[in-house]
Order: sequence, then C-alpha cells, then structure tokens
Amino acid sequence: MKRILVCGSNGLLGQRLAWLFDSDDEYEVLHSSHHRTFAEQDVLIDYTQLDIANRGDVKSLVSSYRPDVILNAAAMTNVDACERERELAWKMNVTAVENLVEVSKRIDAKLVHVSTDYVFDGKTGNYSEDDRVNPVNYYGKTKLAGENMIISSGINFVILRTILVYGTGVNVRNNFALWVINSLNDGTPIKCAEDQISNPTYVADLAIAMKQCADTDARGLFHVSGAEQVSRYDFAVRAAEIFGYDTSLIKKVRLSEIEQFAPRPLLTTFTNMKARHQLQYHPLNVIQGLKLLQEEITGIHLN
Ligand SMILES: NC(=O)c1ccc[n+]([C@@H]2O[C@H](COP(=O)([O-])OP(=O)(O)OC[C@H]3O[C@@H](n4cnc5c(N)ncnc54)[C@H](OP(=O)(O)O)[C@@H]3O)[C@@H](O)[C@H]2O)c1
Repeated sequence: MKRILVCGSNGLLGQRLAWLFDSDDEYEVLHSSHHRTFAEQDVLIDYTQLDIANRGDVKSLVSSYRPDVILNAAAMTNVDACERERELAWKMNVTAVENLVEVSKRIDAKLVHVSTDYVFDGKTGNYSEDDRVNPVNYYGKTKLAGENMIISSGINFVILRTILVYGTGVNVRNNFALWVINSLNDGTPIKCAEDQISNPTYVADLAIAMKQCADTDARGLFHVSGAEQVSRYDFAVRAAEIFGYDTSLIKKVRLSEIEQFAPRPLLTTFTNMKARHQLQYHPLNVIQGLKLLQEEITGIHLN
C-alpha cells in the first residue's frame, strides 16, 4: 500500500485531495497543514499539524511517517500579499519547498508540487511546458524559484502548473468564482477584465491530476488547466447566468482599470497537450465546472 503525505490540506486543493483519497483504500494517507485541526471536522481523516517552512518539523514527520509520495498543496497564494510581504512569500513558496525537496531526497520519495501560469508574462498565451518563463510579479517569481529548486534537485518529481483554480470548501480563501458569486448575491457591482484571459480550472480536475501523479510513474513538468480559454469578464457572466444573478452588475473593463497591488499577466492560456497524453487529463469546460460548483454550494453533490 502506498503511503501519501499531503501538505496544505486545509486549502482549496488540499480539502479536495482529502475527499478524493477518502474514497480510495489503495492508499494510506496522512493529511497536514498549518492549523491544529482539519477544516472539515466531520470527515474522518488522519490529520496532523505541519508547517512546511519549519525544516526540523518536516524532517521529523517525514522520517517517522516515511511516505512514498508527498503531495504539496501548500503555498502562499495571495498574489498581492506576496508582493507586499516578500520575505514571507519566499519562505512559504521557496524555503518550504526546499525542505520538502531535502526530505524527498533523503527517503527517496516522489514529490508532486503545484505551480502557476503566473510564471509567464502573459504576452503570447497558449503556453507549453517548453515556453520561456518570465514572471511579472513576486508571487510568480517565488513559484518559479520553487520549481527550479525541485527540477535541479535530481529527485523524482512532478510539477503541475495550473490556472485560476475555483471551487468551494470549508473556510477556503476567496477564489475568483466565489468572489463573483458572493458579490452578485449581495447585489454588489463588480469590475471584471475583458482582456485578462486564461483557462479557469475546477479544483476537482486539479486534484484528480495530482492523484494520477501519485498513482502512476509520471515525472516532470505538466500544464493542467481547465479545458476552455475565457476572459475574466466572460467567466463572471457565465457564473451569474448559472447561479441566476443579474449580469448587469458585472462591468466590463480593461485589466489596467482594476486597482491591484501586484501586476498581472494578461494572456496565460494552456493547451494541456502533454497532460492529456501522459496523464490522461481531460478537464471540464467552464459551464461544466460552474454547474458542479453550483451543485456543491447548494449541497446536492460533494465529491
Ligand atoms: N488558487 C489559484 O487560483 C491557483 C492558481 C495557480 C496555482 N495555484 C497553486 O495551487 C496550489 C494550491 O492552491 P490553493 O488554491 O488550494 O491555495 P489555498 O486555498 O490558499 O491553500 C493553501 C494552503 O496552504 C497552507 N499553507 C500555507 N503555508 C503553509 C505552510 N508553511 N505549512 C503548511 N501549510 C501551509 C495554507 O494554510 P493557512 O491558510 O493556514 O496558511 C492553506 O491551507 C498552490 O501551490 C498555488 O500556488 C493556485
């Protein structure tokens, strides 16, 4: 039986991994994150507190648990906060990854890590794994440094670069879809960029891709995003239509008209070709993802 250690289990992706592995007894799984308890207390999982930025704690947990695979869903993901609090961003997104690399090497474990479209400058889009990286903000720089640390380490690894992950969970950080839905539900007008284009990724697709990396001997760097390229404005309008909100509350603007602390890349689309072939990755389109999100939020469906 394979032993899995999940880091960042209280986050959006981490919670989805817990649900996914919960229904699979092929694995022994230990979930971990910053907090003392797992966010969804009703789910019976093996959970422990672990700050992956603490080298000593990482070493001692990994030496005693000895996982075959480490799935890292932990990161500092708030792009503006990373721009403001650079030291902390480096600690979470680079130093902590270095700790995981060190222990993976020591016990010969496979490390499956998640990175971002923000390693690209967004000038051309349709990025493949071989395209030139050039992050435009500090979050992207830290995530790229984390990738480089893993790639140059010689360990057995997978890095999944993904885009605009959306979904729901217990006390999860506001993602773009939840922000749109909550704002419209409150009757608050919002501004969404028509020129910021990407492939929004439903969190279950990303979790399935991560599990596939634990299941198989896949190695290397993969792009795994949603199936469809769409602007933030169009994504928001589709969400409003599916959830039955007033689309006139959504104002179409250019990205330059939205005040944000960190710069954002404009066009960061992926084709997912390599993941389709090598990971059997077949993600949902926007309507399919948003419909599932609606079912989850209204409590009809949860897995
Ligand atoms: N969300 C997106 O749109 C998006 C897009 C591209 C790539 N990604 C990548 O996808 C991955 C998962 O993102 P997500 O959306 O699930 O993020 P999330 O909801 O913000 O979850 C991240 C989790 O990591 C935990 N964490 C942070 N630092 C930690 C540490 N030092 N030790 C242990 N746990 C720690 C956080 O716990 P606390 O809250 O307690 O700190 C949080 O539960 C990340 O690598 C992210 O960079 C996300």
